[in-house]
Amino acid sequence: MSAMKPNYPENSWWVAAVGEEVTRTPLGRWFLDRPVVLYRTEAGEVVALEDRCPHRWAPLSRGCLVGDDIMCPYHGFRFDATGTCTKIPTQQTIPAMARVKTHAVREDGPFVWIWMGDPARAQVTPLPELPFLSGPGWNTMRGYMPVKANYMLIQENVLDLTHFGFLHADTLEQKGWEGGDSEVTVADGTVGYRKQMRQEPVASFLGIPDGIGYGQKADRVDWGHFVSPAVHHAGVDIVDPRPGREARTLRFQITHLTTPESPGRTHYWYALGHDYGEYTPERCAELTDLIVATFTQDKDVLEAVQDVIERDARHADSVEVSVTADRPALQARRILRAMLESEQGRTP
Ligand code: FES
Ligand SMILES: [Fe+2]
Repeated sequence: MSAMKPNYPENSWWVAAVGEEVTRTPLGRWFLDRPVVLYRTEAGEVVALEDRCPHRWAPLSRGCLVGDDIMCPYHGFRFDATGTCTKIPTQQTIPAMARVKTHAVREDGPFVWIWMGDPARAQVTPLPELPFLSGPGWNTMRGYMPVKANYMLIQENVLDLTHFGFLHADTLEQKGWEGGDSEVTVADGTVGYRKQMRQEPVASFLGIPDGIGYGQKADRVDWGHFVSPAVHHAGVDIVDPRPGREARTLRFQITHLTTPESPGRTHYWYALGHDYGEYTPERCAELTDLIVATFTQDKDVLEAVQDVIERDARHADSVEVSVTADRPALQARRILRAMLESEQGRTP
């Protein structure tokens, strides 16, 4: 089962943190089975170093900054932002091996991204674009949840929205996914789905920003893309059903950002945006409660799935039955397999 062993490409941009989490106090966090310490230089640049002192493996994140250097909490070795050891308190000479690995990082909009693989490839690989997060005309909000499940379980969850009518029957209430297939498109290492809904009741989360009547019927399109193993971008385009309103499409978008910590644990950030209405504090709180309740339902079921995967030993002689609704998720697995095979012949 891919959800039990490392199944993550190193040569990919992954979200490491929200910008304001990275400060002059070192932040330790695990990505792709490796410890990383994040901090800002005095000039405000983000630094990502291996969070393992080469002396006796103390986490540098437990230390402190001295200028732009980080000082190990155990015996006081210091390392600069390039990972070079700059000071050993007990001697003048510094062994050549006394250095820590650095990781490429980029800050874009609200997020800090990290590249755990070949640094040369980081330089030529653009970040995934999330224009609604920093573009004009969008109201946005975001959140974070640690999930004790493999990151691909989250990616597959958001590629198959037929769970809406069951898992989220009492939260999202996004109707229309029970019948009919969606269009599935595969191109350039991504997979997308698109489903047109006719005269379905408006879900409450779509109505909160602008008071669109809950339960009022409207045409809409639900769509989503597996942009990379780190990013799923989804949206709802809804035709404003209120009489007397200009005929324009209201857009609500959600980005799911999955960064593996280990095979069984994932950092999960989500960001929402809509180009209509606005957030009053009350609307923002209402939407936040609804989204957290919904994503907690996903988290709970995915953690239960992970638990079965880890504890039931009958993997080799058990089947996993797929149905038509799983087409996007199966395509995503193929894309991931190709990425892993291109990295040192690894397979998920
Ligand atoms: S473990 Fe870091 S200085 Fe000894
Ligand atoms: Fe869900």
